[in-house]
Amino acid sequence: MKNFIGIDLGTSSVKLVLLSESGSVLKTVTKSYPVFYPHSGWSEQNPKDWVNGVIDGLFELLSGQKAALVEGIGVCGQMHGLVVLDDQDNVIRPCILWNDGRTEKETEYLNETIGKKSLSDLTANIAFAGFTAPKILWLKNNEPENFSRIAKIMLPKDYIVYMLTGEFTTDYSDASGTLLLDVKNKIWSKKMCEICSVKSEWLPKLYESYEKAGYLKSELAKRLGLTGKIAIAAGAGDNAAAAVGIGTVKNGDCNISLGTSGTVFISQNNFSVDKNNALHSFCHASGKFHLMGCILSAASCNGWWMNVIDSSDYDAEQTGADKYLGINDVFFLPYMMGERSPHNDVNAKGAFIGLRPDTSRAQMTLAVMEGVAFSLRDCIEVARGNGLIISSSGICGGGSRSDLWKKIIANVCNVIVEVPKIEEGPAYGAAILSMVASGKYNSVEEAVDKTTGFIDKIYPDPLLAEKYDERYLVFKKLYPALKPVFPLI
Ligand code: XUL
Repeated sequence: MKNFIGIDLGTSSVKLVLLSESGSVLKTVTKSYPVFYPHSGWSEQNPKDWVNGVIDGLFELLSGQKAALVEGIGVCGQMHGLVVLDDQDNVIRPCILWNDGRTEKETEYLNETIGKKSLSDLTANIAFAGFTAPKILWLKNNEPENFSRIAKIMLPKDYIVYMLTGEFTTDYSDASGTLLLDVKNKIWSKKMCEICSVKSEWLPKLYESYEKAGYLKSELAKRLGLTGKIAIAAGAGDNAAAAVGIGTVKNGDCNISLGTSGTVFISQNNFSVDKNNALHSFCHASGKFHLMGCILSAASCNGWWMNVIDSSDYDAEQTGADKYLGINDVFFLPYMMGERSPHNDVNAKGAFIGLRPDTSRAQMTLAVMEGVAFSLRDCIEVARGNGLIISSSGICGGGSRSDLWKKIIANVCNVIVEVPKIEEGPAYGAAILSMVASGKYNSVEEAVDKTTGFIDKIYPDPLLAEKYDERYLVFKKLYPALKPVFPLI
């Protein structure tokens, strides 16, 4: 009986999970680290904090466990972050994260001067402020000295894989979010590299997520009590890994993630591009493709609201809020870090709308959860507009632990929400990828068949869904109405 480790390098913490080969969770560990906001709308992290979290987490995960049974490790993580190393492998500056909005000018340059059509032809995507390529241009324009020292460019989880194996690699799912990958042909785009002044030797070697990137460094393996060669999978972006962990690998399967960000992930057998590029067109960790809408603030909105009202009892705050389901006249816009899908607007801001003297705290709590659900529906409607049928969806992420939020999502989005038997999502998916990398299973599909499944389904209630259809029409009017005001705030 072999064991496998999955590591999810998240934005608020790294989550580690130890799995048996049949997919039972033996132990989980979480290690938190800070996010720095050096300016309004910017967000950074220190890669050293990630490494400390991962190493401490591995020791804690394996303490009291049969370490010698571990055969593989998979790493996934927050996408799009820019990690830059010099020729001595020093980290040049803090990582600029996926939800950082500093690259407005560079994003505009790419979308308007290079042009959305060219970008889409070259990479299958247009520029969004959080993507890696605009950040590289920002570094060139604003920190030329740092830019001149670049010897390697990495995504967050690739830095962890590099620290664990010494191999400079990435995978297609995560590379898709750099805007430097020709997603259709799965190669770095020479033209995009030229446009962004990126030398080809700065970029990591590309692998499928389930391929072996290398082996755990022997000195670290020994300290952890691991024996033999421990295969490390190339890994994946957190959303693709979550999709694997939930079992979202068949054509048309959908998964909603309610983490710091919120995503609607639609697995596709074949390459395709959303006609307006509002959805991302990325490679899947299964070896195929996916379309994805990403909202920058999801469960993080609820976390923020709980802080504001100085409460940590999520259940208590949500109890009683359900009497307003479908009739809440308070709306919340969740654009706390600007918005990615579908608006692509770094200036968008969060907002409560519809407050009256008798507005209750429960209504505002509910409005936050509904606002996130309406924004996810925005993404789903784009997919439906492309002819995709989205009638059911898996769910994962911290927010999915709330029964109320799952009910809201089922009714706002008019989908059957399928509750997975294992809620670890990305870390679980990363461990599954390592099962394939180490030869335990022949394909991601086979591994997913053996390990994942659903334990419950939440059906939309036709009357409530109809009420939410009406509310959604109001929600849709709010962003266009406020759009001109946001840059002034
Ligand atoms: C996806 C995205 C986020 C991060 C969060 O495009 O930016 O979901 O991956 O970790």
